[in-house]
Order: sequence, then C-alpha cells, then structure tokens
Amino acid sequence: MHLQTAEYDLSSHADVYEPSEDSFLFLDALEEEFGNLVDLKPLNIVEIGSGSGVIITSLAKALKNANFFAVDINMSACKATQMTGELNATAIQPLCMDLLGQFKENMFDVIVFNPPYVVTDSEELCGNGINRAWAGGKDGREIIDKLLPKIPNILSCKGIFYLLLLKENKPKEVIDFMFTLGFAHKIIKERKLLGEYLYIVKFNK
Ligand SMILES: C[S@@+](CC[C@H](N)C(=O)[O-])C[C@H]1O[C@@H](n2cnc3c(N)ncnc32)[C@H](O)[C@@H]1O
Repeated sequence: MHLQTAEYDLSSHADVYEPSEDSFLFLDALEEEFGNLVDLKPLNIVEIGSGSGVIITSLAKALKNANFFAVDINMSACKATQMTGELNATAIQPLCMDLLGQFKENMFDVIVFNPPYVVTDSEELCGNGINRAWAGGKDGREIIDKLLPKIPNILSCKGIFYLLLLKENKPKEVIDFMFTLGFAHKIIKERKLLGEYLYIVKFNK
C-alpha cells in the first residue's frame, strides 16, 4: 500500500518545523508498516509533536475508521496541523500540550513520535517556539526520556509505539529501557541522511 504524503502549506507558520528528511523517513517506515496497522484495527491514533501535521494527516488519509489526535507544545504547530488536516479533508484533533499528560489510560493503539532529538544544552529546552522542534538537551534524550515511562499507561495492550532516534541518542539504551517496561522492539528503518544516522524503532508488547 502506498502512503500518500499529505499536502501542507507552512507559509503562514514560519515558527513550525518544516517537514524534512526525518519526517519523510518516518513516512517511509509507516508505509512499510501499513499492513500491520490495518490488521491492528486501531481506534485511537496520536502523533506527539505533529509540527506541520504531515505525518498524522498522511496516516489519516490512508487509515479509515480511527480517531486521529495530534499534540504539540507549540500552539502554532497545532494550528498548522489543523490546517493540514483541513487541506486534506481529514479530521485531526490537535491539542496544545506537553507530551500526553491529559489522556486517559490505555487510550491509544498507535503512538507516533518524531521527537526533538538534537544534542543541545539543557537550557535550550525553554519556551514553546521553533527551538522545541530540535532541542533535545543531554544526549538529545531529555524529552524522549520524559515520555518513555508513560508509554505503558497510555498505550493499549495491543498498541504500537513508533519512535525516531538519532545515533547520538544512544538507541540501545532506549531499547534496553523499553525492554525493562515489557516492550519488544524492531528497527523498521535506518538511514544516514545529511550527516545524521537515524533509526525508526517500533515497540510493542
Ligand atoms: C522534529 S519536530 C517533528 C515535527 C513533525 N512531526 C515532522 O516530523 O515533521 C518535533 C516536534 O515536537 C514538538 N515538541 C517538542 N517537545 C514537545 C513536547 N514536550 N510535547 C509536545 N510536543 C513537543 C515540537 O514543537 C515539534 O513540532
């Protein structure tokens, strides 16, 4: 199955992450996973850090009969995601919030996260602007590490969590930690892009 990339227009959202090689690698990975996603029959799907909304909207165009949520800490990204949903005649529910704090237990069958993964000073993790798209703090892992312990509560028993990681994020440490939480992993894609080595990792129970 071909996953058609959603149309988007960020001309009025200069402070939102422009879809880049990492976003498109993620879409390639989800395309490869498409059969599994159809078989899963997911009810609720969420993208954390939706930015332009290109990933969640592409999923929504291809997968029917599910509810699609998008969260971002950047209000402008939430508006861009809303617009991208409308541009592609899909219903996405964007919410401006920090990770998945306000959702109920076991709510999601699919969680997708292309996180801010760049290694930066921790001080760069401030405000809610475009810097939040890349600033990852120590090992580029500060936001990732905040999310991981919450996954077992928010993901349904049959659920799948897809996460993009950079080599500098020390993927083995993430995989080992998720193992302690009861999750198996599979690397769906890995690619060297513009000097970055990226992985898309799938976690499920
Ligand atoms: C690398 S960008 C990815 C954007 C888009 N998903 C894509 O692939 O093109 C990371 C996104 O995560 C958002 N973000 C960063 N920290 C967040 C947090 N704590 N909670 C929610 N969103 C966050 C940023 O605002 C940004 O839109």
